[in-house]
Amino acid sequence: MIILGIESSCDETAAAILKDGELLSNVVVSQIDIFKAYGGVIPEVAARSHLEAILPVIDKAIADAHVTWDDITHIAVTHTPGLLGSLLIGTLTARTLAILHNKPLYAVHHLKSHIYSNWLSDQTPEFPLLALVISGGHTQIIYMPRHNDFQIIGTTLDDAVGECFDKIAKILGLPYPGGPSIAKAAQKGNPTKYRFPHPQVDGLNFSFSGLKTAVLRTVQKECDVGLDYPSHDLKNLLTTEQIADFAASFQKTAIDILLEKLNLALLEYRDIKSIVFAGGVSANKELRGAASRRGERCSSSGSFPPARAATYIPDGTEKVAKNEQSFPDSQSMTSRTESGDPDKSARPQALEAKPKIFFPSPEFSGDNAAMVAMAAYWEIKSGVSPTDPYKLTLAPRSLLC
Ligand code: KG4
Ligand code: ZN
Repeated sequence: MIILGIESSCDETAAAILKDGELLSNVVVSQIDIFKAYGGVIPEVAARSHLEAILPVIDKAIADAHVTWDDITHIAVTHTPGLLGSLLIGTLTARTLAILHNKPLYAVHHLKSHIYSNWLSDQTPEFPLLALVISGGHTQIIYMPRHNDFQIIGTTLDDAVGECFDKIAKILGLPYPGGPSIAKAAQKGNPTKYRFPHPQVDGLNFSFSGLKTAVLRTVQKECDVGLDYPSHDLKNLLTTEQIADFAASFQKTAIDILLEKLNLALLEYRDIKSIVFAGGVSANKELRGAASRRGERCSSSGSFPPARAATYIPDGTEKVAKNEQSFPDSQSMTSRTESGDPDKSARPQALEAKPKIFFPSPEFSGDNAAMVAMAAYWEIKSGVSPTDPYKLTLAPRSLLC
């Protein structure tokens, strides 16, 4: 089985060739340099750039893999969610190629692809697993009992965490894309300088718009200006040190919120064997370090190797006493009373299985077509039928199902 994967949902034009689950080539052309000047993606410009790049990118992926059209057995393309014009270029190209070369076509969900980026490695996750999907448009916890079975158990009620990184970067005057810029600025900042509240959202859902407003208000206060002061001018009032401290404090809060919810999910889903991080924000090194340190606590008992995430543990990893609990944290393992307050009398219970943590290799954290081909590979192996290329639809917004 040789799959040509195609991805164009946002501002990356990408193609890849996957042979029986092994990656033969992976080509990504990013439009980041175009959009740096604007501070964000302009959908029409993105669509036009995809149009220029898509055929050369596909040709290069085929050439790099040393295969021909005769060798390719399937075509896979992202059809939802994403920017309408961007999706249109990828899906129209894939439909045309499928008809022209008479190949079965698979229309793949972008978030499924992000999850499957964790299979582009020698060590692969085991089921059942929990996936934390953290991208520019989504923040979700997904339970997967088996391949190609996605059950959303938590989702953001407003902004996605990546969107929050991007918006706060703008307030701080840091360049697009905001996630990597915040991460870089945060390296020189004090993560405990500013304290931001954690959202009080029931269950496994998230909310990030309050955090964004809390950062904005604190910046306004720090700059001694009123609430009506234009947010895009605040950056001119901040020192480099303040920007670094805001970046580090926001980043720490966002990571804490994500990992707290993951802890809660692990308390409900006790048979989990793997925790899988997916989406652009999963590239964040502090997040990788924080998740790995929790994994390390388990490894003190010798049964929780933190897998690839271990590579990202920064120097100065905290020492953990033997009796300290693992991922999930002992502190959040207390159950809740009916009023929603933690039930202090309840004792933490042991997990049935100690999950391993998986992060995609950094080259596969952002948008790429290797993950699209891998998601299609597991759809095909799960018995999913191809899509009629004459009928394939696209949807800018859609839920995983
Ligand atoms: O998955 P992705 O490439 O595209 C979408 O599907 O949305 O995710 C893009 C998001 C952006 O919000 C970007 O700022 C964020 O991922 N991001 C990061 C980092 N690298 C990318 N956020 C935090 N830390 C990073 N190192
Ligand atoms: Zn993405």
